[in-house]
Amino acid sequence: MAEQRIRKAVIPAAGLGTRFLPATKSMPKEMLPIIDTPIIQFVVEEAIAAGIDDIIIITGRGKKAIEDYFDTSPELESHLFKNKKYALLREIKDISTLVDIHYIRQKEPKGLGDAVLKAEKHVGNEPFAVLLGDDIIKAEIPCIKQLTNLFERYSKSIIAVEEVPKEKVSSYGMIKGREIAESIYRIEEIIEKPSLEEAPSNIGTVGRYVLTPAIFDCIKETKPGSGTEIQLTDAIKLLMEKEDVFAYSFKGKRYDAGDKTGYVKAIIDFALEKEDLKAEIVRYLQEGGI
Ligand code: UTP
Repeated sequence: MAEQRIRKAVIPAAGLGTRFLPATKSMPKEMLPIIDTPIIQFVVEEAIAAGIDDIIIITGRGKKAIEDYFDTSPELESHLFKNKKYALLREIKDISTLVDIHYIRQKEPKGLGDAVLKAEKHVGNEPFAVLLGDDIIKAEIPCIKQLTNLFERYSKSIIAVEEVPKEKVSSYGMIKGREIAESIYRIEEIIEKPSLEEAPSNIGTVGRYVLTPAIFDCIKETKPGSGTEIQLTDAIKLLMEKEDVFAYSFKGKRYDAGDKTGYVKAIIDFALEKEDLKAEIVRYLQEGGI
């Protein structure tokens, strides 16, 4: 393998976002804001904080807003300059100079595995990170950095995992693993969206991965699975036949922003961290809302 340091991240953002219809009829789910910041910005910032400087966003039809968001915005910048809104101007400019972002189209949303495969040419023969916008993870050490650190130590594909409540098991990729060091597991079984009876444990994968490039051939061999999509989980199962795949019980708090309740919880927690919002939101919640 040419390079052990993880330099590239793939952010799949071509899904239809049906759980957020009708909003996602004309706007990408990844652009839904947590107060004033689109979900995808948290994900890009997490990758940058892990030292990743080459980001590939997989987009699809109706996702132009993502490209516009990370592009320069001359009219807006000159408006803010004229109105002496310098702090806001800096913030807007920073977004467009964050990092080198490349866009690749997934013509049809044929599944997360298929979306990742679209990045093969750009990634080439090196290990890479995958971050899903469905998960916003607050952590002292960015979650993907926790994984890249472990990759540097073990040179194995590694997936972030956490305990999943019973009623959510059928929405996750569930694993069974053998603990080889504190919070690190060698995966022995992985199954996408199992029933509660089929689930091998209560440990599920979340949207952060570091994968070796061998995953690309595995995706090509993967038949459409759950929901007739090409599932990344099924490709990882094939990868496990060729090399070890690890799971890591990451340190941090995850918000499932692809789900309505997780999304609202993220908004509340982020509001409680903003000095200008906190007092009023606390008062409102203590009063019991409506
Ligand atoms: P999800 O299945 O959670 O996203 O895929 P979705 O399909 O957009 O949302 P729902 O379930 O219909 O509400 C996880 C991630 O994989 C991307 C999505 O954009 C999301 O970030 N994805 C999914 C793709 O890029 N392409 C696909 O074909 C499917």
